[in-house]
Amino acid sequence: MSTYLQNPEQDEAATTTSPTRQIGRSTPPSKCVAWSAVGLVAASWISAAAFGLYILCFYFGAIRSGHIEQWNNNLSGLYDRDHPLAFLAMAAHLGTGAIILLLGPVQLIDKFRGRWPAMHRWLGRLYVFTAFVAGLGGLGFIVSKGTIGGAPMNLGFGVYGALMVLAATETYRHARGRRFETHRVWAIRLFALAIGSWLYRMDYGFWLLAAHRIGHTKTFRGPFDIVMSFFFYLPNLAFAELFLRGRWKRLCSAFGISAVVVLNIATLVVGIGTYYFIRYHWGPGILHSLLGRAG
Ligand code: HEM
Repeated sequence: MSTYLQNPEQDEAATTTSPTRQIGRSTPPSKCVAWSAVGLVAASWISAAAFGLYILCFYFGAIRSGHIEQWNNNLSGLYDRDHPLAFLAMAAHLGTGAIILLLGPVQLIDKFRGRWPAMHRWLGRLYVFTAFVAGLGGLGFIVSKGTIGGAPMNLGFGVYGALMVLAATETYRHARGRRFETHRVWAIRLFALAIGSWLYRMDYGFWLLAAHRIGHTKTFRGPFDIVMSFFFYLPNLAFAELFLRGRWKRLCSAFGISAVVVLNIATLVVGIGTYYFIRYHWGPGILHSLLGRAG
C-alpha cells in the first residue's frame, strides 16, 4: 500500500513558488520501515472502521427503535430532549463521523488515486463534505449545549472542530484550484485530525484499563480528561507537520531498527485494543442493532 506518505509523485501544479514546496515530499523510508508503517495503517484502518460501523449501528439503531435515550449509555447528556438543536447537530456529527472512519486513508493511497482518479475525486468530495459536517455538527453541539467536561473540554473540542472545518475547506479549495501540492499538505493534515476521534477512544480504553481511571472522572473533569481534551489531535498534527517537513527519513535513519520495533509494537497495541473494543463494546453494539435490539 504505497501512499502519499511513502511514494510521492510529482503533481501537475507544483511550482517553485508554491508556499508549501518546502514542506512537500520526503524521501521514501527503508522497505522494512515502510512495511511496518503499512501494517500500522492497515490495523488502524480496520479498527477505526469497526468504530465507524458501531457508531452507525448503535446510535442510528437507537433512533430507529425509538430509544434515543440509549445514547446516554455511552456518554451521559449526549441526548437531552430539552435540546433538540444539540440532538440534530449530534446526529449529523455521528453520521458523517462514521463515514470518515470507514473511508480511512483510502484517499492517501497513491495506487488507488492513480488507477481510479474519478473515484478519488468523488470519494474526496465525500470525505471533505463529511469532515466539514462532522466538525460543524460537533461545534453546533458545543454551542447549543456544551460538553460534559465543561470549559476545558469545550475549548479542546472547539479548537478541534474549527481545525477540522478549516482543513476540510482548504483541502477542497486547493484541489478545485488545481494547487495539488498544497492540496496534498492539507489532505494529510485533515487525515491526521480525522483519526483523532478514534485515537481518543483507544487512548481512554488503555488508560482506564492500565491506570485504573486515575485522573478520570465520570464528568470528564479530572486532570487526565483535561489533558485528553487536546491530546488526541495535537500530537497527530505535530507528527503530520514533522512528516510534511521531510523529517520522516531522518527520523527513520536515526532510529534505524528501533523505528521498525516501535511501529510493530504500535500495531500490536492497536490490535489488542481493537480486539477488546470489538469483543466487549463495539461488537455487542453492532450485533444488538443488526438483530433489532438497539443497546
Ligand atoms: C471522524 C470524526 C469524528 C467521529 C467519528 C466522532 C464520533 C463521536 C461519537 C461516537 C460521539 C459520541 C460519544 C461516544 O460514543 O464516544 C461523539 C461525541 C462528541 N464529539 Fe465527535 N467525532 C468526530 C469528530 C469530532 C469533531 C471534529 C468535534 C469537534 C467539534 C467533535 C466533538 C464532539 C463533541 C462535543 C461530542 C459530545 C461530547 C459530550 O457529550 O460532551 N467530534 N463524537
